[in-house]
Amino acid sequence: MKENRIETDQTLSEIPSAEPERQYYFIEKARKHLEEMKKEAARPLTFCVTTFGCQMNARDSEKLTGILEEIGYMEEPEEEKADFVIYNTCTVRENANLRVYGRLGQLGRAKKKNPHMMIALCGCMMQEPQVVEKLKKSYHFVDLIFGTHNIYKFAELLYTRMESGRMVIDIWKDTDKIVEDLPVERKYPFKSGVNIMFGCNNFCSYCIVPYVRGRERSRDPKAIIREIERLTADGVVEVMLLGQNVNSYGKTLDNPMSFAELLREVEKIDGLERIRFMTSHPKDLSDELIQVMAESKKICRHLHLPVQSGSTRILQKMNRRYTKEQYLELVRKIREAVPDISLTTDIIVGFPGETEEDFQDTLDVVRKVRYDSAFTFIYSRRTGTPAAVMGDQVDPAVVKDRFDRLLKEVQDIAAQTCAVHQGTIQTALVESVNEHDSSLVTGRLSNNLLVHFPGDASLIGSLVPVSLKECRGFYYLGERA
Ligand code: SAH
Ligand code: SF4
Ligand code: F3S
Repeated sequence: MKENRIETDQTLSEIPSAEPERQYYFIEKARKHLEEMKKEAARPLTFCVTTFGCQMNARDSEKLTGILEEIGYMEEPEEEKADFVIYNTCTVRENANLRVYGRLGQLGRAKKKNPHMMIALCGCMMQEPQVVEKLKKSYHFVDLIFGTHNIYKFAELLYTRMESGRMVIDIWKDTDKIVEDLPVERKYPFKSGVNIMFGCNNFCSYCIVPYVRGRERSRDPKAIIREIERLTADGVVEVMLLGQNVNSYGKTLDNPMSFAELLREVEKIDGLERIRFMTSHPKDLSDELIQVMAESKKICRHLHLPVQSGSTRILQKMNRRYTKEQYLELVRKIREAVPDISLTTDIIVGFPGETEEDFQDTLDVVRKVRYDSAFTFIYSRRTGTPAAVMGDQVDPAVVKDRFDRLLKEVQDIAAQTCAVHQGTIQTALVESVNEHDSSLVTGRLSNNLLVHFPGDASLIGSLVPVSLKECRGFYYLGERA
Protein backbone atom coordinates (compact mmCIF):
# COMPACT_ATOMS: atom_id res chain seq x y z
CA MET A 1 0.00 0.00 0.00
CA LYS A 2 1.54 3.25 -1.13
CA GLU A 3 1.54 6.46 0.85
CA ASN A 4 2.70 9.92 -0.32
CA ARG A 5 3.83 10.47 -3.86
CA ILE A 6 4.99 13.87 -5.18
CA GLU A 7 5.89 14.64 -8.81
CA THR A 8 9.12 16.60 -9.10
CA ASP A 9 10.09 19.04 -11.78
CA GLN A 10 13.20 17.51 -13.31
CA THR A 11 13.86 20.54 -15.49
CA LEU A 12 15.12 22.27 -12.34
CA SER A 13 18.74 23.18 -12.83
CA GLU A 14 19.37 23.48 -9.12
CA ILE A 15 19.04 20.79 -6.46
CA PRO A 16 16.18 21.79 -4.14
CA SER A 17 17.38 22.63 -0.64
CA ALA A 18 14.01 22.13 1.11
CA GLU A 19 12.80 18.71 2.26
CA PRO A 20 11.10 16.53 1.22
CA GLU A 21 11.41 18.08 -2.29
CA ARG A 22 15.15 17.44 -2.27
CA GLN A 23 14.62 13.71 -1.70
CA TYR A 24 11.99 13.48 -4.45
CA TYR A 25 14.59 15.07 -6.74
CA PHE A 26 17.11 12.35 -5.83
CA ILE A 27 14.52 9.58 -6.16
CA GLU A 28 14.09 10.68 -9.77
CA LYS A 29 17.86 10.80 -10.33
CA ALA A 30 18.29 7.34 -8.82
CA ARG A 31 15.39 6.03 -10.92
CA LYS A 32 17.16 7.13 -14.10
CA HIS A 33 20.40 5.59 -12.94
CA LEU A 34 18.65 2.33 -12.10
CA GLU A 35 17.07 2.26 -15.59
CA GLU A 36 20.59 2.14 -17.01
CA MET A 37 21.61 -0.56 -14.55
CA LYS A 38 18.58 -2.65 -15.54
CA LYS A 39 19.45 -2.30 -19.24
CA GLU A 40 22.96 -3.46 -18.52
CA ALA A 41 21.74 -6.43 -16.48
CA ALA A 42 18.95 -7.12 -19.02
CA ARG A 43 16.51 -7.91 -16.20
CA PRO A 44 14.56 -6.19 -13.42
CA LEU A 45 16.60 -5.45 -10.29
CA THR A 46 15.30 -6.41 -6.87
CA PHE A 47 15.60 -5.35 -3.22
CA CYS A 48 15.16 -6.86 0.22
CA VAL A 49 14.76 -4.86 3.44
CA THR A 50 15.59 -6.85 6.59
CA THR A 51 14.43 -5.37 9.88
CA PHE A 52 15.86 -6.02 13.33
CA GLY A 53 14.48 -4.52 16.54
CA CYS A 54 11.33 -2.68 17.50
CA GLN A 55 8.16 -1.32 15.89
CA MET A 56 9.91 1.96 15.27
CA ASN A 57 12.43 0.20 13.08
CA ALA A 58 9.62 -1.68 11.34
CA ARG A 59 7.99 1.64 10.44
CA ASP A 60 11.33 3.04 9.24
CA SER A 61 11.69 -0.03 7.03
CA GLU A 62 8.35 0.77 5.38
CA LYS A 63 9.83 4.17 4.53
CA LEU A 64 12.95 2.55 3.03
CA THR A 65 10.73 0.19 1.03
CA GLY A 66 8.60 3.08 -0.23
CA ILE A 67 11.69 4.87 -1.54
CA LEU A 68 13.19 1.74 -3.15
CA GLU A 69 9.95 0.95 -4.98
CA GLU A 70 9.68 4.53 -6.16
CA ILE A 71 13.21 4.27 -7.54
CA GLY A 72 12.13 1.20 -9.49
CA TYR A 73 13.45 -1.80 -7.57
CA MET A 74 11.15 -4.81 -7.17
CA GLU A 75 10.72 -6.61 -3.88
CA GLU A 76 12.49 -9.98 -3.43
CA PRO A 77 11.73 -11.78 -0.16
CA GLU A 78 14.93 -13.83 -0.21
CA GLU A 79 17.84 -11.72 0.90
CA GLU A 80 20.58 -13.61 -0.90
CA LYS A 81 18.77 -13.38 -4.25
CA ALA A 82 18.19 -9.62 -4.06
CA ASP A 83 20.31 -7.02 -5.89
CA PHE A 84 19.96 -4.42 -3.14
CA VAL A 85 19.93 -5.60 0.47
CA ILE A 86 19.51 -3.23 3.39
CA TYR A 87 19.71 -4.18 7.06
CA ASN A 88 17.84 -1.88 9.40
CA THR A 89 19.69 -2.75 12.58
CA CYS A 90 19.02 -2.81 16.34
CA THR A 91 21.56 -2.63 19.14
CA VAL A 92 19.39 -2.69 22.26
CA ARG A 93 20.98 -5.99 23.39
CA GLU A 94 24.24 -7.52 22.34
CA ASN A 95 22.66 -10.53 20.63
CA ALA A 96 20.74 -8.23 18.24
CA ASN A 97 24.12 -6.84 17.32
CA LEU A 98 25.83 -10.22 16.88
CA ARG A 99 23.09 -11.48 14.58
CA VAL A 100 23.80 -8.63 12.18
CA TYR A 101 27.50 -9.50 11.91
CA GLY A 102 26.68 -13.20 11.41
CA ARG A 103 24.25 -12.59 8.59
CA LEU A 104 26.44 -9.94 7.01
CA GLY A 105 29.22 -12.49 6.57
CA GLN A 106 26.86 -14.75 4.58
CA LEU A 107 25.67 -11.82 2.52
CA GLY A 108 29.27 -10.94 1.61
CA ARG A 109 29.62 -14.40 0.06
CA ALA A 110 26.39 -13.96 -1.95
CA LYS A 111 27.68 -10.62 -3.24
CA LYS A 112 30.74 -12.26 -4.77
CA LYS A 113 28.41 -14.16 -7.11
CA ASN A 114 26.23 -11.19 -8.10
CA PRO A 115 28.01 -8.22 -9.75
CA HIS A 116 24.88 -6.04 -9.44
CA MET A 117 24.50 -6.54 -5.72
CA MET A 118 24.70 -3.64 -3.26
CA ILE A 119 24.58 -3.91 0.53
CA ALA A 120 23.44 -1.10 2.83
CA LEU A 121 23.31 -0.85 6.62
CA CYS A 122 21.31 1.64 8.66
CA GLY A 123 19.54 1.94 12.00
CA CYS A 124 20.56 2.05 15.63
CA MET A 125 23.75 -0.03 15.46
CA MET A 126 25.27 2.42 12.97
CA GLN A 127 25.09 5.21 15.57
CA GLU A 128 27.85 3.46 17.54
CA PRO A 129 31.28 4.66 16.36
CA GLN A 130 33.00 1.35 17.20
CA VAL A 131 30.55 -0.51 14.93
CA VAL A 132 31.29 1.73 11.96
CA GLU A 133 35.05 1.35 12.61
CA LYS A 134 34.71 -2.42 12.56
CA LEU A 135 32.66 -2.35 9.35
CA LYS A 136 35.20 -0.09 7.63
CA LYS A 137 38.01 -2.39 8.65
CA SER A 138 36.59 -5.85 8.10
CA TYR A 139 33.50 -5.55 5.87
CA HIS A 140 34.77 -3.79 2.74
CA PHE A 141 31.94 -5.15 0.64
CA VAL A 142 29.35 -2.88 2.33
CA ASP A 143 28.25 -0.09 -0.06
CA LEU A 144 26.28 2.31 2.08
CA ILE A 145 26.12 3.08 5.80
CA PHE A 146 23.86 5.67 7.44
CA GLY A 147 22.23 6.16 10.83
CA THR A 148 18.90 6.87 12.46
CA HIS A 149 18.89 10.67 12.18
CA ASN A 150 19.36 10.95 8.42
CA ILE A 151 17.22 8.03 7.27
CA TYR A 152 15.07 10.50 5.32
CA LYS A 153 18.16 11.15 3.14
CA PHE A 154 18.21 7.54 1.91
CA ALA A 155 17.46 8.41 -1.75
CA GLU A 156 20.20 11.03 -1.83
CA LEU A 157 22.75 8.70 -0.23
CA LEU A 158 21.84 5.82 -2.52
CA TYR A 159 22.21 8.06 -5.56
CA THR A 160 25.59 9.26 -4.29
CA ARG A 161 26.68 5.62 -4.02
CA MET A 162 25.39 4.83 -7.53
CA GLU A 163 27.27 7.76 -9.06
CA SER A 164 30.52 7.43 -7.13
CA GLY A 165 30.82 3.65 -7.09
CA ARG A 166 32.47 4.00 -3.67
CA MET A 167 31.44 3.16 -0.13
CA VAL A 168 29.29 5.99 1.27
CA ILE A 169 29.13 6.60 5.02
CA ASP A 170 26.95 9.32 6.56
CA ILE A 171 26.22 9.27 10.30
CA TRP A 172 24.85 12.22 12.29
CA LYS A 173 25.29 12.51 16.05
CA ASP A 174 21.83 13.99 16.62
CA THR A 175 19.17 16.06 14.90
CA ASP A 176 16.24 18.32 15.70
CA LYS A 177 14.74 17.81 12.27
CA ILE A 178 11.60 15.81 11.38
CA VAL A 179 11.02 15.36 7.64
CA GLU A 180 7.41 14.60 6.70
CA ASP A 181 5.74 13.19 3.60
CA LEU A 182 8.28 10.84 2.05
CA PRO A 183 7.03 7.76 0.20
CA VAL A 184 6.02 4.82 2.43
CA GLU A 185 5.10 1.27 1.44
CA ARG A 186 2.98 -0.29 4.21
CA LYS A 187 3.23 -3.96 5.01
CA TYR A 188 -0.48 -4.32 5.83
CA PRO A 189 -3.23 -2.51 3.89
CA PHE A 190 -5.53 -2.34 6.94
CA LYS A 191 -3.21 -1.34 9.81
CA SER A 192 -0.24 0.92 10.26
CA GLY A 193 2.28 2.25 12.72
CA VAL A 194 2.39 6.04 13.03
CA ASN A 195 5.36 7.77 14.64
CA ILE A 196 4.26 10.43 17.06
CA MET A 197 7.69 11.13 18.50
CA PHE A 198 11.32 10.23 17.99
CA GLY A 199 14.23 9.74 20.41
CA CYS A 200 14.22 9.40 24.19
CA ASN A 201 15.29 11.61 27.11
CA ASN A 202 14.89 9.11 29.92
CA PHE A 203 18.36 7.60 30.10
CA CYS A 204 17.42 4.42 31.93
CA SER A 205 20.88 3.38 33.06
CA TYR A 206 20.98 0.08 31.10
CA CYS A 207 19.60 1.45 27.85
CA ILE A 208 21.41 2.53 24.70
CA VAL A 209 18.36 3.93 22.90
CA PRO A 210 18.81 7.59 23.99
CA TYR A 211 22.37 7.48 22.61
CA VAL A 212 21.43 6.01 19.24
CA ARG A 213 18.04 7.67 18.69
CA GLY A 214 18.90 11.09 20.08
CA ARG A 215 16.83 13.58 22.04
CA GLU A 216 13.07 13.39 22.30
CA ARG A 217 11.19 15.21 19.52
CA SER A 218 7.41 15.19 19.10
CA ARG A 219 5.75 15.47 15.73
CA ASP A 220 3.33 18.31 15.13
CA PRO A 221 -0.17 17.03 16.01
CA LYS A 222 -1.55 18.37 12.72
CA ALA A 223 0.96 16.27 10.77
CA ILE A 224 -0.01 13.18 12.80
CA ILE A 225 -3.73 13.72 12.24
CA ARG A 226 -3.19 14.41 8.53
CA GLU A 227 -1.21 11.19 8.21
CA ILE A 228 -3.89 9.13 9.96
CA GLU A 229 -6.64 10.73 7.87
CA ARG A 230 -4.76 9.75 4.73
CA LEU A 231 -4.24 6.24 6.06
CA THR A 232 -7.93 5.74 6.86
CA ALA A 233 -8.89 7.08 3.42
CA ASP A 234 -6.58 4.36 2.09
CA GLY A 235 -8.23 1.52 4.03
CA VAL A 236 -6.48 1.55 7.39
CA VAL A 237 -8.77 0.76 10.35
CA GLU A 238 -6.15 0.33 13.11
CA VAL A 239 -3.18 2.53 13.99
CA MET A 240 -0.37 1.99 16.46
CA LEU A 241 1.00 5.32 17.72
CA LEU A 242 4.73 4.87 18.18
CA GLY A 243 7.30 6.44 20.49
CA GLN A 244 9.82 5.31 23.11
CA ASN A 245 7.72 7.02 25.76
CA VAL A 246 4.39 8.11 24.29
CA ASN A 247 3.24 9.40 27.67
CA SER A 248 5.61 12.33 27.43
CA TYR A 249 4.33 13.28 23.95
CA GLY A 250 3.96 16.96 23.23
CA LYS A 251 6.06 18.41 26.03
CA THR A 252 8.63 19.91 23.67
CA LEU A 253 6.16 21.32 21.11
CA ASP A 254 5.86 25.08 20.61
CA ASN A 255 2.26 24.70 21.77
CA PRO A 256 2.58 21.90 24.31
CA MET A 257 -0.10 19.21 24.22
CA SER A 258 -0.51 16.04 26.27
CA PHE A 259 -0.66 12.52 24.91
CA ALA A 260 -4.20 12.22 26.27
CA GLU A 261 -5.21 15.31 24.27
CA LEU A 262 -3.65 13.86 21.15
CA LEU A 263 -5.61 10.63 21.66
CA ARG A 264 -8.85 12.60 21.91
CA GLU A 265 -8.10 14.16 18.51
CA VAL A 266 -7.17 10.83 16.92
CA GLU A 267 -10.38 9.30 18.27
CA LYS A 268 -12.41 11.80 16.19
CA ILE A 269 -11.06 10.54 12.86
CA ASP A 270 -13.85 8.96 10.81
CA GLY A 271 -13.18 5.48 9.52
CA LEU A 272 -10.56 4.75 12.15
CA GLU A 273 -11.77 1.87 14.32
CA ARG A 274 -8.88 0.97 16.62
CA ILE A 275 -6.07 2.88 18.31
CA ARG A 276 -3.05 1.27 19.95
CA PHE A 277 0.11 2.86 21.30
CA MET A 278 3.64 1.85 22.38
CA THR A 279 5.46 2.33 24.70
CA SER A 280 4.15 3.78 27.95
CA HIS A 281 6.62 4.71 30.65
CA PRO A 282 4.93 4.21 34.05
CA LYS A 283 6.41 7.42 35.49
CA ASP A 284 4.54 9.56 32.93
CA LEU A 285 1.21 7.74 32.74
CA SER A 286 -1.30 10.39 33.80
CA ASP A 287 -4.77 10.16 35.34
CA GLU A 288 -5.97 12.08 32.30
CA LEU A 289 -4.72 9.27 30.06
CA ILE A 290 -6.46 6.63 32.18
CA GLN A 291 -9.67 8.61 31.87
CA VAL A 292 -9.34 8.95 28.09
CA MET A 293 -8.76 5.20 27.84
CA ALA A 294 -11.82 4.48 29.97
CA GLU A 295 -14.04 6.77 27.87
CA SER A 296 -12.72 5.81 24.47
CA LYS A 297 -14.57 3.59 22.01
CA LYS A 298 -11.51 3.11 19.84
CA ILE A 299 -8.50 2.70 22.14
CA CYS A 300 -7.77 -1.01 22.41
CA ARG A 301 -8.10 -2.84 25.72
CA HIS A 302 -4.39 -3.40 25.95
CA LEU A 303 -1.60 -1.54 27.69
CA HIS A 304 2.08 -2.39 27.44
CA LEU A 305 3.58 -1.06 30.66
CA PRO A 306 7.23 -2.09 31.07
CA VAL A 307 8.12 -2.63 34.72
CA GLN A 308 11.76 -3.76 34.14
CA SER A 309 12.17 -4.86 37.79
CA GLY A 310 9.96 -5.28 40.85
CA SER A 311 12.65 -4.11 43.27
CA THR A 312 12.55 -0.46 44.24
CA ARG A 313 16.28 -0.58 44.94
CA ILE A 314 17.04 -1.87 41.43
CA LEU A 315 14.49 0.47 39.82
CA GLN A 316 16.38 3.34 41.39
CA LYS A 317 19.70 2.08 40.02
CA MET A 318 17.97 1.70 36.65
CA ASN A 319 16.89 5.36 36.82
CA ARG A 320 13.27 4.40 36.17
CA ARG A 321 11.90 6.99 38.61
CA TYR A 322 9.09 4.93 40.18
CA THR A 323 8.95 2.46 43.05
CA LYS A 324 7.43 -1.00 43.22
CA GLU A 325 4.52 0.44 45.21
CA GLN A 326 3.92 3.29 42.75
CA TYR A 327 3.85 0.82 39.87
CA LEU A 328 1.35 -1.45 41.63
CA GLU A 329 -0.82 1.54 42.51
CA LEU A 330 -0.80 2.63 38.88
CA VAL A 331 -1.92 -0.84 37.81
CA ARG A 332 -4.71 -0.72 40.40
CA LYS A 333 -5.95 2.63 39.08
CA ILE A 334 -5.89 1.42 35.46
CA ARG A 335 -7.76 -1.79 36.29
CA GLU A 336 -10.32 0.15 38.27
CA ALA A 337 -11.00 2.49 35.32
CA VAL A 338 -10.74 -0.14 32.57
CA PRO A 339 -11.57 -3.51 34.18
CA ASP A 340 -11.20 -5.66 31.05
CA ILE A 341 -7.76 -4.27 30.13
CA SER A 342 -4.98 -6.64 29.19
CA LEU A 343 -1.58 -5.71 30.63
CA THR A 344 1.78 -6.73 29.22
CA THR A 345 5.29 -5.78 30.26
CA ASP A 346 9.06 -5.96 29.74
CA ILE A 347 11.31 -7.36 32.48
CA ILE A 348 15.10 -7.39 32.74
CA VAL A 349 16.80 -10.07 34.84
CA GLY A 350 20.34 -9.79 36.14
CA PHE A 351 20.79 -6.02 36.29
CA PRO A 352 24.08 -5.22 38.12
CA GLY A 353 23.73 -5.79 41.84
CA GLU A 354 20.44 -7.73 41.60
CA THR A 355 20.13 -10.08 44.60
CA GLU A 356 17.80 -13.02 45.12
CA GLU A 357 15.69 -10.72 47.28
CA ASP A 358 15.41 -8.16 44.46
CA PHE A 359 14.45 -10.95 42.10
CA GLN A 360 11.76 -12.13 44.52
CA ASP A 361 10.29 -8.62 44.31
CA THR A 362 10.09 -9.00 40.54
CA LEU A 363 8.29 -12.34 40.91
CA ASP A 364 5.98 -10.70 43.43
CA VAL A 365 4.98 -7.99 40.95
CA VAL A 366 4.40 -10.62 38.25
CA ARG A 367 2.13 -12.57 40.62
CA LYS A 368 0.25 -9.47 41.76
CA VAL A 369 -0.29 -7.89 38.33
CA ARG A 370 -0.91 -11.18 36.51
CA TYR A 371 0.28 -10.01 33.10
CA ASP A 372 -1.34 -11.32 29.93
CA SER A 373 2.18 -11.68 28.61
CA ALA A 374 5.66 -10.41 29.30
CA PHE A 375 8.86 -10.03 27.34
CA THR A 376 11.69 -11.20 29.56
CA PHE A 377 15.29 -10.20 28.85
CA ILE A 378 18.64 -11.10 30.29
CA TYR A 379 20.49 -7.88 31.13
CA SER A 380 22.92 -7.03 28.35
CA ARG A 381 25.85 -4.73 29.01
CA ARG A 382 25.84 -1.84 26.53
CA THR A 383 29.03 0.17 26.14
CA GLY A 384 28.55 3.83 26.99
CA THR A 385 25.60 3.34 29.36
CA PRO A 386 26.00 4.03 33.11
CA ALA A 387 25.09 0.43 34.05
CA ALA A 388 27.95 -0.97 31.95
CA VAL A 389 30.47 0.38 34.44
CA MET A 390 28.57 -0.50 37.61
CA GLY A 391 30.29 -3.01 39.88
CA ASP A 392 28.56 -6.20 40.90
CA GLN A 393 27.70 -7.65 37.47
CA VAL A 394 25.71 -10.79 38.31
CA ASP A 395 27.14 -14.28 37.62
CA PRO A 396 25.66 -15.52 34.29
CA ALA A 397 24.69 -18.91 35.78
CA VAL A 398 22.66 -17.17 38.49
CA VAL A 399 21.02 -14.92 35.92
CA LYS A 400 20.09 -17.89 33.73
CA ASP A 401 18.50 -19.67 36.68
CA ARG A 402 16.45 -16.57 37.58
CA PHE A 403 15.48 -16.08 33.95
CA ASP A 404 14.12 -19.65 33.71
CA ARG A 405 12.15 -19.28 36.94
CA LEU A 406 10.70 -15.96 35.79
CA LEU A 407 9.75 -17.32 32.38
CA LYS A 408 7.89 -20.25 33.92
CA GLU A 409 5.95 -17.94 36.25
CA VAL A 410 5.08 -15.55 33.42
CA GLN A 411 3.94 -18.36 31.13
CA ASP A 412 1.82 -20.12 33.76
CA ILE A 413 0.04 -16.89 34.62
CA ALA A 414 -0.39 -15.87 30.97
CA ALA A 415 -2.08 -19.19 30.15
CA GLN A 416 -4.51 -18.63 33.04
CA THR A 417 -5.29 -14.99 32.14
CA CYS A 418 -5.81 -15.89 28.49
CA ALA A 419 -8.38 -18.53 29.43
CA VAL A 420 -10.71 -16.08 31.21
CA HIS A 421 -12.16 -14.89 27.89
CA GLN A 422 -13.31 -18.37 26.85
CA GLY A 423 -17.00 -18.37 25.91
CA THR A 424 -17.19 -14.61 25.21
CA ILE A 425 -17.88 -12.92 21.88
CA GLN A 426 -15.29 -10.34 20.85
CA THR A 427 -14.44 -8.38 17.75
CA ALA A 428 -11.39 -9.51 15.79
CA LEU A 429 -9.55 -7.63 13.09
CA VAL A 430 -8.71 -10.32 10.52
CA GLU A 431 -5.02 -10.07 9.64
CA SER A 432 -4.18 -13.13 7.52
CA VAL A 433 -5.06 -16.59 6.34
CA ASN A 434 -3.71 -19.06 8.90
CA GLU A 435 -0.21 -20.24 8.00
CA HIS A 436 -0.78 -23.88 8.93
CA ASP A 437 -4.42 -24.39 7.95
CA SER A 438 -5.78 -22.42 5.00
CA SER A 439 -9.40 -23.03 6.01
CA LEU A 440 -8.79 -20.69 8.97
CA VAL A 441 -8.06 -16.99 9.28
CA THR A 442 -6.19 -15.25 12.10
CA GLY A 443 -7.63 -12.20 13.79
CA ARG A 444 -6.44 -9.92 16.56
CA LEU A 445 -8.70 -9.02 19.46
CA SER A 446 -8.75 -5.60 21.07
CA ASN A 447 -6.74 -7.08 23.98
CA ASN A 448 -4.04 -8.15 21.48
CA LEU A 449 -4.70 -11.91 21.71
CA LEU A 450 -4.99 -13.87 18.48
CA VAL A 451 -7.94 -16.03 17.45
CA HIS A 452 -8.05 -18.56 14.61
CA PHE A 453 -11.45 -19.28 13.07
CA PRO A 454 -12.97 -20.61 9.82
CA GLY A 455 -12.92 -18.05 7.00
CA ASP A 456 -11.14 -17.03 3.82
CA ALA A 457 -8.92 -14.26 2.45
CA SER A 458 -11.90 -12.03 1.64
CA LEU A 459 -12.20 -11.32 5.38
CA ILE A 460 -8.70 -9.82 5.68
CA GLY A 461 -8.91 -6.25 6.98
CA SER A 462 -12.45 -6.55 8.33
CA LEU A 463 -13.64 -6.47 11.91
CA VAL A 464 -15.80 -9.46 12.71
CA PRO A 465 -17.44 -10.70 15.91
CA VAL A 466 -15.99 -14.03 16.95
CA SER A 467 -17.09 -16.46 19.61
CA LEU A 468 -14.02 -17.64 21.55
CA LYS A 469 -14.56 -21.38 21.84
CA GLU A 470 -11.32 -22.78 23.12
CA CYS A 471 -8.23 -21.28 24.73
CA ARG A 472 -4.98 -22.89 23.62
CA GLY A 473 -2.56 -21.28 26.04
CA PHE A 474 -1.73 -18.06 24.22
CA TYR A 475 -4.38 -17.95 21.51
CA TYR A 476 -7.98 -18.95 20.82
CA LEU A 477 -9.87 -21.15 18.44
CA GLY A 478 -13.22 -19.60 17.57
CA GLU A 479 -16.17 -19.29 15.24
CA ARG A 480 -17.87 -16.31 13.63
CA ALA A 481 -20.62 -15.20 15.95
N1 SAH B 1 11.14 2.70 25.43
C1 SAH B 1 10.67 1.46 25.82
C2 SAH B 1 11.59 0.29 25.60
C3 SAH B 1 12.53 0.22 24.47
S1 SAH B 1 13.66 -1.11 24.50
C4 SAH B 1 10.39 1.53 27.30
O1 SAH B 1 10.95 2.30 28.01
O2 SAH B 1 9.64 0.72 27.75
C5 SAH B 1 12.63 -2.52 24.80
C6 SAH B 1 12.98 -3.29 26.02
O3 SAH B 1 14.28 -3.82 25.90
C7 SAH B 1 13.02 -2.50 27.30
O4 SAH B 1 11.75 -2.30 27.85
C8 SAH B 1 13.89 -3.34 28.18
O5 SAH B 1 13.15 -4.29 28.90
C9 SAH B 1 14.80 -4.07 27.19
N2 SAH B 1 16.16 -3.59 27.27
C10 SAH B 1 16.64 -2.36 27.00
N3 SAH B 1 17.96 -2.30 27.23
C11 SAH B 1 18.34 -3.52 27.68
C12 SAH B 1 19.57 -4.09 28.10
N4 SAH B 1 20.68 -3.38 28.13
N5 SAH B 1 19.59 -5.39 28.49
C13 SAH B 1 18.45 -6.12 28.48
N6 SAH B 1 17.27 -5.64 28.10
C14 SAH B 1 17.20 -4.35 27.70
FE1 SF4 C 1 15.41 3.03 26.94
FE2 SF4 C 1 14.28 3.94 29.13
FE3 SF4 C 1 14.15 5.38 26.90
FE4 SF4 C 1 12.77 3.13 27.10
S1 SF4 C 1 12.48 4.97 28.34
S2 SF4 C 1 14.01 3.78 25.38
S3 SF4 C 1 14.11 1.83 28.31
S4 SF4 C 1 15.99 4.91 28.06
FE1 F3S D 1 16.54 -1.57 18.79
FE2 F3S D 1 16.76 0.89 18.04
FE3 F3S D 1 14.38 -0.09 18.52
S1 F3S D 1 18.12 -0.16 19.41
S2 F3S D 1 14.77 -1.64 20.06
S3 F3S D 1 15.73 -0.75 16.94
S4 F3S D 1 15.06 1.97 18.91
